[in-house]
Amino acid sequence: MLNINKPDMIDISTQYAGLNLRNPIIVGSSGLTRKPEQIKEFEKAGAGAVVLKSLFEEQIDIHSSRLMQESDYPEAADYIHEYVRSNQIQEYLDLIKQAKETSTIPIIASINCYKSEAWIEFAQHIQAAGADALELNIYFLETDLTQDYDATRERYVRILRRIKEAITIPVILKLGKATSNIPALIHLLKINGADGVVLFNRFYQPDIDIHKLQIVSGNVFSNHSDLSDTLR
Ligand SMILES: Cc1cc2nc3c(=O)[nH]c(=O)nc-3n(C[C@H](O)[C@H](O)[C@H](O)COP(=O)(O)O)c2cc1C
Repeated sequence: MLNINKPDMIDISTQYAGLNLRNPIIVGSSGLTRKPEQIKEFEKAGAGAVVLKSLFEEQIDIHSSRLMQESDYPEAADYIHEYVRSNQIQEYLDLIKQAKETSTIPIIASINCYKSEAWIEFAQHIQAAGADALELNIYFLETDLTQDYDATRERYVRILRRIKEAITIPVILKLGKATSNIPALIHLLKINGADGVVLFNRFYQPDIDIHKLQIVSGNVFSNHSDLSDTLR
């Protein structure tokens, strides 16, 4: 369809998870989407929407545990934990508010939690801060030898349903590649209220430095050969 304001421009606006996008190019969550000025740059460069860097519950907990170890006062533990937690959540909420003030494209927040109450708490704060949608960066490292696949799927559905009950903005699930029967999982998520699904996350890639005998970060960037795997 021709855009009447700019006759030479084709209208590629679309809908995604109930959001109106001027085009279907969405900048994925990464270190490049953690500052309002970077988000503005993506808007200027033509992005249809931006997904903010995820707020990781585990990172907050690790950060507060480190500070607790440095403290001489064990009785300060609860105080430190609560302080770090609320501070880091607040920083993320400020990012959402600033991004909404400075940009006009939809801002999709992203969370990664492991305690069920945290998913709800983070989601409610994020909606109140003005995010247009929420992406769930769900990932559990499954190591329980007795756990079957149904339990994993049930966990996804439980988190989704509880979040859908708690907030009204669209909820999108981001999946990893290593999942059995992806169409069936997506169908299950759809009937349980998911507004969208993102394929796929690229999880942290570990490597081993054989000279230093240390675990180090592997290749950060995907390359063109990764694409055929995603398309398959
Ligand atoms: C350095 C880096 C950081 C990322 N951080 C996040 C994150 O915080 N949350 C998330 O959901 N995805 C994160 N991702 C995954 C990307 O959003 C994207 O889904 C993934 O990289 C696949 O796209 P690609 O093949 O273009 O790299 C990150 C990826 C990279 C490379």
